[in-house]
Amino acid sequence: AVSVYATQAEASVKVAGRIAALIRDKQEKGKKAVLGLATGVTPIGVYNELVRLHKEEGLSFKNVITFNLDEYYPMKPTAAQSYVTFMNENLFNHIDIDRENINIPDGTLKQEDVAAFCLKYEQKITGLGGLDLQILGIGRTGHIGFNEPGSAPNSGTRLVTLDDLTRSDASRDFGGKENVPTKAITMGVGTIFKAREIILMAWSQKKAPIIKKAIEGEISGEVPATYLQLSDHVEFILDEGAASELT
Ligand code: F6R
Repeated sequence: AVSVYATQAEASVKVAGRIAALIRDKQEKGKKAVLGLATGVTPIGVYNELVRLHKEEGLSFKNVITFNLDEYYPMKPTAAQSYVTFMNENLFNHIDIDRENINIPDGTLKQEDVAAFCLKYEQKITGLGGLDLQILGIGRTGHIGFNEPGSAPNSGTRLVTLDDLTRSDASRDFGGKENVPTKAITMGVGTIFKAREIILMAWSQKKAPIIKKAIEGEISGEVPATYLQLSDHVEFILDEGAASELT
């Protein structure tokens, strides 16, 4: 399904509302809500609205368990560019989530320990009954998480090499492309697919060409987001700019 909103602000409030409804529904049932989260500029409006719902409307995150999609590798959690820092500043520092319920791939592991960590990350998600909802952005390479062109549809959490375009797009955050890590740990396409509900968001005309490919293009590992066409529980939530090239 594709939904187009006039502005990203309006769309972000809708997505946050869906997340809040899921959390409250689980609370009523005495259950945990298991959320898959993304970083980058795309979900910032959603996180702002979730923080507002917490502060002004009493939304509690005590029953929420989160799994972030990815982290650069190597990356210290305290670094300004880490996804740990991003999540703390944009969401976790402002809500009442229990720190032990936050999961983000560990960018400090020794290379030989990464595979075991990734397997445990998968098992932890599965052990909790799977992700209730995964939110996604999309990179200009067509990546979801950091599943770059060439990723397999059944891929799991693993160490990957970032595409050159992805590193260029990140260069501003790092003060130059040469400072952007060449690798990342990411949930796989298969991990994302298992979520009971998936919401991919994209804003602005800058994303219009890749959104056209993702939604209307041939399904191919060359544009990993096209794999989402195979799922019946995906919703693409766009603003008018991002939707502007759709037929
Ligand atoms: C972030 C992630 C990436 C981003 C994508 C878009 O956790 O997994 O796939 O969603 O690179 O980034 P922005 O939102 O900055 O355009």
